[in-house]
Amino acid sequence: MKIIVTRPIPRAGIDILKQAAHEVLVLPHDRPCTRSELLAATQNAQGLLTMLTDKIDDDFLQQRPSVKAIANYAAGYNNIDITACQSRGIHVSNTPDVLTDATAEIAWTLLMMAARRAGEGERMVRNAQWTGWGPMQLQGMSILGQTLGIIGAGRIGSRVAQIATAFGMQLLYVHRRETEPMAQLEARRVTLPELLKESDFISLHVPLLADTHHLIGAKELHMMKKTSILINTARGPVVDEAALVEALKSKTIFAAGLDVYEEEPKIHPGLLALENVTMLPHIGSATVRARSEMSKLAAENLLAMLRGQRGKTQVV
Ligand code: GLV
Ligand code: GLV
Repeated sequence: MKIIVTRPIPRAGIDILKQAAHEVLVLPHDRPCTRSELLAATQNAQGLLTMLTDKIDDDFLQQRPSVKAIANYAAGYNNIDITACQSRGIHVSNTPDVLTDATAEIAWTLLMMAARRAGEGERMVRNAQWTGWGPMQLQGMSILGQTLGIIGAGRIGSRVAQIATAFGMQLLYVHRRETEPMAQLEARRVTLPELLKESDFISLHVPLLADTHHLIGAKELHMMKKTSILINTARGPVVDEAALVEALKSKTIFAAGLDVYEEEPKIHPGLLALENVTMLPHIGSATVRARSEMSKLAAENLLAMLRGQRGKTQVV
């Protein structure tokens, strides 16, 4: 059995793979592989442990007929053409659950930083532009007791909501059905327009699909309160970035906090010019614990799928 891991990942998973497979090759670059590097490395490989930065499409699969199973090192798997995998009988898994807490923490980090203008303040201090305490300086938005709207109440969205109860917040959510965890938090399921109009904070937790692409565009941003804050830790293309730049520039909304972007790692130049956006470099799952658990789960999934068993978190 030949297994390719497309980037260095924490050891736990590599050890699991090495105990079971004949050949495990971890590509050495700490950057996304180019298409030709990926093709060259995966010749005759049966198992792939891929990153969200690897584009696995039909054309790639056609050129690599030996591939039987793909374990994506992420909860989201929009980088993989699932339909193409299905039609070729290739199994695919992801790594949900183990990164739920880490990603919920990053959503909260962004929410608090954006509300209290922490990035702006930090830049001021670092750039030696702070002239001392000021009564009018850096007034942000309060968080406690406000209304939080969750768009996509899966595992991560529900965890973000649960944390909000410690802040005495009212909870609204948009989801295809009512969910038990959200009902327990006394969250109210509403329509998207209702959520946009009533929330002080809006946090996105939907997967990237055809019908969530640009879910938040100019029209939706204009429905939001002028004092509201938009948080995106899901996938960049869920938000129309050009529309967001306009909304932030014209103060249609108060601020945004982003961990993901439409064309990573490119950042829209309009965002870079604004103070009322807090930006992180896609680090939702980047804790020592989550990354180690992701590494183990991806490795276990891959071995199970290659043995013809069902992976613990198999997608197809
Ligand atoms: C990260 O973005 C993930 O989907 O795991
Ligand atoms: C992630 O695993 C989610 O379902 O939100």
